[in-house]
Amino acid sequence: MIKFTLNDKELEVPDGTTVLQAARANGVTIPTLCDHPDLTPYGGCRLCIVEVEGARVPQASCTLPAGNGMKVRTETAALTQGRKTVLELLLTNYYDSGYTPSKDPEKNELLHWVQQYDVKLPEDLKPKQPRYNVNSDPNPFVFVDLNKCILCSRCVRACAEVQGRFVWGLSDRGYDAHIVAGADMTMLEARCESCGACVAYCPTGALDNKMSMELGQPAKQVMTTCTYCGVGCQFDLNVKDNKIIRVTSNPAAPVNGMHLCVKGRYGYDFVHHADRLTKPRVRKYLIDGTPRAHDRGAWVETDWNTALSITAKKLAEARDNFGADSVGVLSSAKCLNEENYLMNKFARQVIGTNGVDHCARL
Ligand code: SF4
Ligand code: SF4
Ligand code: FES
Repeated sequence: MIKFTLNDKELEVPDGTTVLQAARANGVTIPTLCDHPDLTPYGGCRLCIVEVEGARVPQASCTLPAGNGMKVRTETAALTQGRKTVLELLLTNYYDSGYTPSKDPEKNELLHWVQQYDVKLPEDLKPKQPRYNVNSDPNPFVFVDLNKCILCSRCVRACAEVQGRFVWGLSDRGYDAHIVAGADMTMLEARCESCGACVAYCPTGALDNKMSMELGQPAKQVMTTCTYCGVGCQFDLNVKDNKIIRVTSNPAAPVNGMHLCVKGRYGYDFVHHADRLTKPRVRKYLIDGTPRAHDRGAWVETDWNTALSITAKKLAEARDNFGADSVGVLSSAKCLNEENYLMNKFARQVIGTNGVDHCARL
């Protein structure tokens, strides 16, 4: 264990803990932009500077391991001035093209700290025009606007460390530095899986959710469990006018944290789709009791009792006429464990076949 002093308070933390981690664990807020608790510390933005007794210059707390006997201060007039300067420099390259972002503007971390530190950039230092094309990548889900990018590299690390795809990288140096997909290609060409992790970790809205642009902000967020596969990821549905307008990661999700796949994050349009089946349907000849037509005829809507009676009758006919193994049962990851257990019982004990499987194995 390491003993050190943070703002006059003695702390004891495991060896290897950074000053930022120790501060967070003890309820001390240090402003950050490039750091995220899920990602490897980067030390790029310098907003998290702290004063260490005896050190010549302020240190980045996100990459500074706490050391025995160290004396650290997180709030001084010089640190405030240093952070203001960092924010001013970032703003000289931050251009808002005026579109309505999907992500909550209140949660734009750069603008949050700009407001907290009361940073007002003189008009003549503000960028007059965008340097990059807005919506510059054809990815169907990820909206890219590098005019809002502060080069924090959270997208680079999220793609590499959370999703394991290594799509984003940093290109060029100095004023020309920018993030780039692969060897300066489109995201999909660079093997992007459209999981949206880079969007979830981006602190400025430079990466955003394309499907949700211009839809405004939700009236409420509802935490739910994904219906697609058996992993059981959780996330927040953002709901406005009784419609899902986007899905956002919920860091408190016990199984997946911030991580989601493309289906969980972007595959929600089926919920309100005009073609979605909301009532059972059967072939018309099965209701009429007429012989099966060559093309099996049209589908018609019916009630659940009728649909289930017809299904039970046809399954029994198949089992009795052709044997139990003529029937196969395929269940779904959209069902609960208990429902899948019942399907297994239904296949083995009611029908009498071991031909039962589940869509998650396909
Ligand atoms: S959407 Fe996912 S796979 Fe694609 S670049 Fe972003 S993090 Fe990487
Ligand atoms: S796109 Fe966002 S996450 Fe990536 S470097 Fe720029 S600001 Fe950071
Ligand atoms: S948060 Fe520490 S340098 Fe960016």
